[in-house]
Amino acid sequence: MNRRQILAAISVAAPLLVWTSCAFGPRAEPGGGPPAGKPRRALDAAFDWQAQVLCDTAPLAAFEVGGVRVPREGAGCIVLVPKPGEDPAPALREAAAAAAGEKDFRAWWAAPDAATDAAARAAGVPGIDGAVAPQVGEAIPVDIRPALLVVGPDGRIQFAHLPGSSWDPELFAYEAREIAVRIAVEKAKRDGSLRIGIRRITPPPQKSWKGALWCGACHRGFFRDWLLTPHSVALADLERLGRDEDPECIKCHVIGWEKGGYADRDRHRAFADVQCEACHTPERTHSPDRPMSAARGDYTDTCGQCHTQNFSFFSDPALAMKYVSHPQREAAEFDPKVSWAIRDKAIGALKDQMYAEVCGKTDFVGSSKCVECHEEVHASWSGTPHAKAFAALEKEGKAEDPKCLPCHTTGFGQKKGFQSLAATPDFAGVGCESCHGPGLKHVEAKTDEERRTTIFAFDEKCPTCVITRICQSCHDEHKRPCFVKNERPFEIIESLQKVRHRKK
Ligand code: HEC
Ligand code: HEC
Ligand code: HEC
Ligand code: HEC
Ligand code: HEC
Ligand code: HEC
Ligand code: HEC
Ligand code: HEC
Repeated sequence: MNRRQILAAISVAAPLLVWTSCAFGPRAEPGGGPPAGKPRRALDAAFDWQAQVLCDTAPLAAFEVGGVRVPREGAGCIVLVPKPGEDPAPALREAAAAAAGEKDFRAWWAAPDAATDAAARAAGVPGIDGAVAPQVGEAIPVDIRPALLVVGPDGRIQFAHLPGSSWDPELFAYEAREIAVRIAVEKAKRDGSLRIGIRRITPPPQKSWKGALWCGACHRGFFRDWLLTPHSVALADLERLGRDEDPECIKCHVIGWEKGGYADRDRHRAFADVQCEACHTPERTHSPDRPMSAARGDYTDTCGQCHTQNFSFFSDPALAMKYVSHPQREAAEFDPKVSWAIRDKAIGALKDQMYAEVCGKTDFVGSSKCVECHEEVHASWSGTPHAKAFAALEKEGKAEDPKCLPCHTTGFGQKKGFQSLAATPDFAGVGCESCHGPGLKHVEAKTDEERRTTIFAFDEKCPTCVITRICQSCHDEHKRPCFVKNERPFEIIESLQKVRHRKK
């Protein structure tokens, strides 16, 4: 189906997945960015390309500049936000071409400063209607310009395309369709007459990678839901560690590595992170013959490509499936804003739940129980700061402060964990079960096989991908209220070396 046919098809269509409008992401939100003075978090880095669908701008008020009015009666417009100091002509030509192909769409620019504005005027690109208010472009951080914004007739930015995004005519057609559909519905509501028929467009299975933004044009709720999972910050997490150009690391943190997908940060932002197509294989999705299903286990092999034994916190993909098969999509559908704060909380909560499920299905027994069979390990642990972590609180006169206890004791807040120094002395300090999970089932196990499956073992697991996860339940500079001389972010390799039971 070509663009014209798609647009023709919408005259009686209704939106199934309503694109509520989008906040230009976390940075534009007052107080929504990273806490002042704290290190950058993964979400800051993920911002650049994901911002494209996170806009929730108020209607652009000043949509009139120099007496030129942006049309509100038509379907909408494309606004180019040029990069300061760069020749705007090529991008203007692209915008003009895109608008020319779409009924009722017109192209404009929103220059960030006078010099760029002058350059855009001087370029004299045919098909460009002129300039709109600069504040349109101010929503987009300078470093991720140029940008093409798709603006609806109500003046709201509804889609944005940044460098490296999946801008293509087909995608733009879906977006234009969405905007046009909304106009049709509004009109029908006003008339109070039309009963609207529903016509969904299902694209054919693809041969190439498309990226989540492409999918999100139609599956918006799923896109928002995905933003609430750790998969949406996977490459950003590498970037935080300065490893986002390390081929040893990239392959499982993006889509299509060495298979025609992500290869380069600037050109392939659209394929950064673990996106839809990591699980929904392009050539199988939308295929009438082979719809995939979690119930049938079709996804399990897919997870295993990245979640291998040593690179996974959980060992059973079936257990993990519920966390990623869009549990919140219904809610997300109607929540127009997925802000930095909401994502941060949701991703943290997902990890906590996962942690509890993998490590917490039995009671705590205390470190002195473990010594019975792991004498050598116990001796080595006794020499680490963990064993003495409670003393640090006593020294500060905070031995009863519930704000401090979670990280300086074992199993605080759990039924059989730390209560007080007098009642549960064995649980003062960071004991065995702080890292290995509660041990009752392991202690009571009858066979070695049973012992192995009833305790969280690290084996040869990747320190950065998996072990870090355990340590950061406490070693997280963002949630630590204590005074610590050394405010450096936690560095796993070096720290692990200091607390290993056997030196390597
Ligand atoms: C074989 C695939 C694979 C490779 C290669 C890989 N990772 Fe990962 N990484 C994963 C998976 C899977 C997870 C999620 C683990 C989990 O929690 O189940 C992950 C998680 C992470 C996390 C998030 C940890 C957290 O929860 O905070 C970081 C950071 C990370 N990896 C860094 C790296 C670095 C650095 C490298 C290169 C040295 C690397 N990864 C190589 C698959 C991989
Ligand atoms: C032009 C709109 C559109 C785009 C773009 C789109 N889809 Fe779909 N998708 C649909 C429609 C319509 C259905 C059918 C829903 C139904 O029948 O209930 C569907 C069904 C699905 C299904 C369930 C059935 C199946 O075939 O497995 C999945 C999974 C899916 N899409 C994933 C994706 C992914 C991943 C992308 C991006 C690569 C994507 N979609 C892009 C419209 C779209
Ligand atoms: C980590 C893997 C994973 C990722 C990433 C992922 N999905 Fe899914 N998705 C699943 C699983 C698992 C299901 C459940 C299939 C089932 O229950 O049969 C699912 C189901 C779906 C369905 C069909 C739901 C239905 O009712 O049939 C759609 C549509 C879909 N996903 C779209 C997306 C889109 C769009 C993205 C990216 C924004 C995405 N998914 C990212 C794993 C994933
Ligand atoms: C392309 C590689 C890849 C695929 C395929 C993949 N994942 Fe992941 N997964 C990752 C990475 C990388 C992370 C860590 C992201 C981060 O935190 O930076 C992760 C994190 C997770 C987490 C959070 C784990 C935790 O420690 O809390 C769950 C749950 C998860 N994945 C489940 C799945 C399931 C289920 C599937 C299959 C349906 C799947 N993943 C497919 C790479 C992948
Ligand atoms: C009654 C004896 C006994 C007690 C008590 C005991 N363990 Fe073990 N543990 C074992 C044996 C035996 C193995 C070796 C199983 C194997 O590798 O075949 C083991 C293995 C382990 C492993 C490695 C698992 C693996 O898959 O390699 C860890 C971690 C562990 N124990 C932690 C603990 C902790 C923490 C405690 C205290 C809560 C504890 N153990 C108490 C007997 C015990
Ligand atoms: C989120 C977990 C967490 C909480 C909550 C927490 N701490 Fe800490 N604390 C740590 C970690 C981790 C370290 C070790 C930091 C390092 O050296 O990198 C530490 C170190 C300390 C130290 C320094 C130990 C030394 O001698 O070097 C003191 C003192 C301390 N904490 C007191 C407190 C007090 C008082 C509170 C409550 C107000 C508190 N902590 C709450 C995790 C926590
Ligand atoms: C700070 C987190 C932490 C604490 C606390 C901790 N461990 Fe471990 N444990 C690890 C890690 C990480 C590994 C695997 C990597 C390594 O040591 O090289 C491990 C490995 C093990 C193993 C299997 C390998 C081996 O070296 O024998 C056993 C058994 C074990 N721990 C038991 C215990 C016991 C018993 C305690 C308490 C006395 C304890 N651990 C306290 C993190 C911890
Ligand atoms: C239950 C919370 C908790 C967990 C889990 C935890 N730690 Fe700690 N860790 C602490 C606290 C609290 C201290 C400070 C103890 C003190 O000095 O009194 C500490 C201190 C340390 C220190 C010494 C201080 C420094 O920065 O040199 C190292 C190293 C360390 N931890 C590494 C790890 C590693 C590696 C892991 C994961 C395998 C881990 N920790 C898991 C709470 C925890």
